Amino acid sequence: MNLSGNTVLITGGTSGIGYALAQAFLAAGSTVLICGRSPAHLAAAQEKHPALHTHVCDISLEQDRTGLLAWATKNFPTLNILVNNAGVQRDIDFTAGLGEFLAGENEIRINLEAPITLSGLFIPLLAKNPAPAIVNISSGLGFVPAARMPVYSASKAGLHAFSMALRLQLAPTGIKLFEVVPPAVDTNLNPQGRAKRGNFKPDLQPETFVAAVMQGFADDVFEIGFGTSAHSLRASRAELDRAFQVMNSQM
Ligand SMILES: NC(=O)c1ccc[n+]([C@@H]2O[C@H](COP(=O)([O-])OP(=O)(O)OC[C@H]3O[C@@H](n4cnc5c(N)ncnc54)[C@H](OP(=O)(O)O)[C@@H]3O)[C@@H](O)[C@H]2O)c1
Repeated sequence: MNLSGNTVLITGGTSGIGYALAQAFLAAGSTVLICGRSPAHLAAAQEKHPALHTHVCDISLEQDRTGLLAWATKNFPTLNILVNNAGVQRDIDFTAGLGEFLAGENEIRINLEAPITLSGLFIPLLAKNPAPAIVNISSGLGFVPAARMPVYSASKAGLHAFSMALRLQLAPTGIKLFEVVPPAVDTNLNPQGRAKRGNFKPDLQPETFVAAVMQGFADDVFEIGFGTSAHSLRASRAELDRAFQVMNSQM
């Protein structure tokens, strides 16, 4: 991927990994569009980087997904890269039944259905432009699931499978499919869960992680991991089982 001269739409570009990606693409000389649910978060990002273009959008809502496409098509017809970054993470305990799952945000809808639907919606627009690409942000937990986050882990495993399949299917169209597989990064993800775990704060900063990701894009690495997630991408089943035991024994 050439990092400059693109028009890039990043879902959930107001904080964490998405915001760091927005800054990195801006610095590389691309036009950057971000969306998110909170007008205040979007305004804060734009205040720091006036070149950012922003749009309020809740990717869990079908009408907001089609609205995002309409906004981008009208105002940014050169859009050539879609980054499916927005995501949520929850601890969910199923031992008492379905209650907790139903009581909060739906990770299947936000982390899996939305990237699938947005990919389908945006492919015709991306395909019209030079150097088209889709970037899906999955997770190391899609390879080594966390028992306390069963639905999140499943949503990211699903996004990995979708990314592999779509990469092959899109090859004749020229649309490149990148999957970014973050390990634990210090962001606003799952504040309740992190508080439960003694205010767990990963050492890895989004900017450090994203610097490595941008290098991966530049080198056309189609599955980009970092640290433990880079290892998971290449691990045997026995190694994944061991990592699963170790990680879940520390809960
Ligand atoms: N941090 C990690 O350790 C880690 C590890 C592996 C994978 N990931 C993945 O990395 C991606 C980015 O997460 P992050 O860690 O950077 O978290 P974050 O700091 O919480 O950022 C999440 C972003 O997504 C937006 N968002 C959430 N739900 C949305 C919705 N329904 N519609 C539109 N925007 C929405 C948020 O903005 P608003 O709240 O304003 O909508 C925010 O901009 C996620 O897919 C996450 O699963 C993170």
